[in-house]
Amino acid sequence: MASATTSLGSSSFHSTHSNNYDKMASNSTFSIAKLALSDPIFASFPITSSSYVLDNACGTGIVTSLIKIEHPNVRVLGADLAPGMIDTFKAKAQKEEWKNVETKVIDSKKLEGVEDAVFSHVITNFGFTPGTEDKSGPYQVAKEIWRVTGERGVVVVTTWAERNFTDALEAAALRIRPRETPFSWDLPEEWGRGSWLMKQLEDAGFGNRVTVKRVEGRMEARSLDELVGNLMGAKDMFYKGYSDEEVERLPEVLKEEVKKLESYDEREDSVGIKMVAWVGFAWK
Ligand SMILES: C[S@@+](CC[C@H](N)C(=O)[O-])C[C@H]1O[C@@H](n2cnc3c(N)ncnc32)[C@H](O)[C@@H]1O
Repeated sequence: MASATTSLGSSSFHSTHSNNYDKMASNSTFSIAKLALSDPIFASFPITSSSYVLDNACGTGIVTSLIKIEHPNVRVLGADLAPGMIDTFKAKAQKEEWKNVETKVIDSKKLEGVEDAVFSHVITNFGFTPGTEDKSGPYQVAKEIWRVTGERGVVVVTTWAERNFTDALEAAALRIRPRETPFSWDLPEEWGRGSWLMKQLEDAGFGNRVTVKRVEGRMEARSLDELVGNLMGAKDMFYKGYSDEEVERLPEVLKEEVKKLESYDEREDSVGIKMVAWVGFAWK
C-alpha cells in the first residue's frame, strides 16, 4: 500500500501555485481572516496612522486586502518564504493601488533583518505550520511573532480545526485507486486543537495574555463545478502520480463526494463547504 504525504504549508508548493492560490483557497482563508479582524478583541487594538502591520506568511495578500479596505494608508509588511507568493502579492498591490506596502521574502521561523518590537499588529493567517518535517516549526514562528510585536501590540494566529473538504478528496482517491492509501496531510493530531495553539502563544512569551476562539468559515464558489475545479487546482499534491485517464475521471467523482459531505451546503448564489478554525489572539 503506497501512501502519499504532503508538507502542509510548504513554501515550495505555494510558490508553484501562487497564481491560482486564491482560486484554490476559494475564500476559505479569507472568510476566517474576516472574522478574526472584525472580532472585538482585535478591534480593541485600533489601527491608527502610526500602526505598522505584519501580514506574516502573507501568501497573495488576503489579510492585507482586508486591512487596506478599512485603512488604506496604514503601513504594511507582507512577508512570505515563497518568492512566487510575493510576486503575486506585489501584482495585487499594484492592481489594487495599495499604498505604504512593502514585501519581503523571508522565513517566518527566523525573521532575519526584522527588528524587535516594531509591529503594532502581527497577523498570521494559516501560516503557523511551516511544513510538517520540523515539529518545532510552529513554536519557532510563535517566538518570532512575540519578538517583533511591540508594546501594547496585538497578534492574531489562525489554524484549522476542521478542513472537511479533505474527506471528499480522500473518498475520491479511494474510488479511483481503491487499493492505495490516499494522500495524508501528515499532521500531528494536536495541531488541530485550540489548546495547542494557545500553548504555543503562551510559551512564546505572551503568558496569560492569550485567548483562542473557534469560528466557522466557508470554502465557496458560484457552482459545484467551479468548487471542484478549484479543488482540482491542487491535484499534483493530492493526486500525485495519477495517470491522465485517472485525473480525467476525478472531477465527476469528486463532485459526488463533495455533495455527500455533511459540511456541504448550497445557497442561492453559491455552494460551499463549512470549515472550522481556531483564532488565537495574544497581546503584549
Ligand atoms: C495556507 S497559505 C496562507 C496564506 C495567507 N496568509 C492566507 O490568508 O491565505 C500559507 C503560506 O505560508 C507560506 N509559508 C510556508 N512556510 C513558510 C515559512 N517558513 N516562512 C514564511 N512563509 C511560509 C506559504 O508560502 C504560504 O503563502
